[in-house]
Amino acid sequence: MSELLTIAMPKGRIFEEAAELLRQADFQLPPEFDDSRKLIVDIPEENMRFILAKPMDVTTYVEYGVADLGIAGKDVMLEEERDVYELLDLNISKCHLAVAGLPNAKKSEIAQKVATKYPNVASTYFREQGEQVEIIKLNGSIELAPLIGLADRIVDIVSTGQTLKENGLVELEHIEDITSRLIVNPVSYRLKDERIDDLVNRLAQVVQPV
Ligand code: PRP
Repeated sequence: MSELLTIAMPKGRIFEEAAELLRQADFQLPPEFDDSRKLIVDIPEENMRFILAKPMDVTTYVEYGVADLGIAGKDVMLEEERDVYELLDLNISKCHLAVAGLPNAKKSEIAQKVATKYPNVASTYFREQGEQVEIIKLNGSIELAPLIGLADRIVDIVSTGQTLKENGLVELEHIEDITSRLIVNPVSYRLKDERIDDLVNRLAQVVQPV
């Protein structure tokens, strides 16, 4: 019997596309996999265990080796800078990181406030732009910040653009394109290389070209 593979899957918007990709790669995931409220789901037929994690925590589980593999947005990889290897661009959950604000938001001489779930990404970006800003970390509903006067601008994920539009905000600067990646713990990759290579090869055959 091959070794057990533990995979950290992000709950939320990436989950559905990632599960679909695994099924296309011929992994037998039962229908209840998608609706379960369980946090650990074992698939004995595949000798796989899935940990259902908050997207921002996937890289943590993989770095500490409690999951061999994980599926994580490039946004999380950039923000968390964990000691993991990226094996494959799954080319799912496409979106981008952007600076947004009210339509007439202007840069100014004084340090403006920027609200974001991505404080590291945002401070690196503004440092590279030579702009001094004060970063305010929020955990969600970032678009609220300019509307209620907490921040001048935001750094956040834009997917369809609907959230910005419905809240009267506009994209000001495009920071980086984002897709989800298959990541691996370096030690797991050494110990379980055959199983992991098999999974990578099967997924690579069903991934849409980047
Ligand atoms: C994300 C992101 C934006 C929104 C963008 O939030 O932070 O708010 O999606 O998507 P759109 O361009 O398609 O409208 P998410 O739904 O993950 O929730 P959050 O507010 O808790 O971060």
